[in-house]
Amino acid sequence: MVLTHLSLTNFRNFSRLDMDVPPGTVLLVGSNAQGKTSLLEAVYMLATSSSFHAENDRQLIHFNILAEEIAVARIVGRFQRNGGSHTLELRIIQEREGFSGQKVRKEVLYDGVKQKLSEAVGHFNAVLFLPQMSPNMALPGSRGSLLAACSLSSSGSASFPRRSRSGPCTRSSQSRSTAISSSWESISGWS
Ligand SMILES: Nc1ncnc2c1ncn2[C@@H]1O[C@H](COP(=O)(O)OP(=O)(O)OP(=O)(O)O)[C@@H](O)[C@H]1O
Ligand SMILES: [Mg+2]
Repeated sequence: MVLTHLSLTNFRNFSRLDMDVPPGTVLLVGSNAQGKTSLLEAVYMLATSSSFHAENDRQLIHFNILAEEIAVARIVGRFQRNGGSHTLELRIIQEREGFSGQKVRKEVLYDGVKQKLSEAVGHFNAVLFLPQMSPNMALPGSRGSLLAACSLSSSGSASFPRRSRSGPCTRSSQSRSTAISSSWESISGWS
């Protein structure tokens, strides 16, 4: 199972992100507060419909739209599984309740068809590693050293191609890995 495309709309600090996920192991590199962890959080949410570090679902919706009548954060992942391409969409919706109340609910669509959250679990799988799970995962290097965004080819030569203004870039190698999301998360722990 391989994630091939990720779209975020009003999720955390991403007003809008559309990215093709390169094949192989992917490293996310970016300066602080660019959204590396948020991006991994989005991938993990496709698998579980819940966040690994938000205290509540409202925190997942971009601050800028929280005052709107209906505020929706959207995570859309396209992935390959068993030879087929599938789409999973998770919506986090804040809407008015009563005169002054608000409630936040979630919707999930698998290949465009609404499903119960419990039914959607299992379509897309992710493995999460957090630094606090093991002291052995602590990696050397200061945050400041991660300011450069680069991609590494399989030969190890570095280039500095694409870096979005608002988000982190990806660093990929040609060696294939089915554990893209786990790699991403371990890098998040590094930053
Ligand atoms: N709901 C939200 N709306 C807008 N911005 C948010 C929201 N939630 C978090 N943020 C901001 O998103 C930014 C990205 O946070 P994130 O933790 O993903 O960055 P990071 O790249 O992992 O940073 P670090 O290198 O410090 O780990 C932070 O500035 C955070 O304050
Ligand atoms: Mg982080």
